[in-house]
Amino acid sequence: MPHIKQIDHVAVVVDDMEKSLSFWRDALGIQVQELREVPAEKSQVAFLPLAGSEVELVRPTTDDSGIAKYLAKRGPGMHHLCLEVDDIRGMLMQLKTKGIRLINEEPRTAPDGKKYAFIHPESTGGVLVELYQL
Ligand code: CO
Repeated sequence: MPHIKQIDHVAVVVDDMEKSLSFWRDALGIQVQELREVPAEKSQVAFLPLAGSEVELVRPTTDDSGIAKYLAKRGPGMHHLCLEVDDIRGMLMQLKTKGIRLINEEPRTAPDGKKYAFIHPESTGGVLVELYQL
């Protein structure tokens, strides 16, 4: 049986990175490990690791990506929760048999080789959930 290991990250969509960092970094005091452009995702991402998991602040850098449209429609806020799973294919199959609506039926592979897939918020109580396997 595939199983969920931990919360890998929480992604927050932001429209103003400096303003967002003034809360997460300056007020809460969480260290930013890295702030970089991710051209493949058409976004700028700040990574704020915390004991095995991470807060990711994502700012779209173009108007035409999925996340840019999300920001335009819903404004800044929580975007998705990512859970680490030991067997992503097995978990997707298990979810499918339980009637859960998937955005990605097959895992996608990131440039760094990690596999990921998204579960539709309609089946999760309104939260976009990402599954990820190292
Ligand atoms: Co993510």
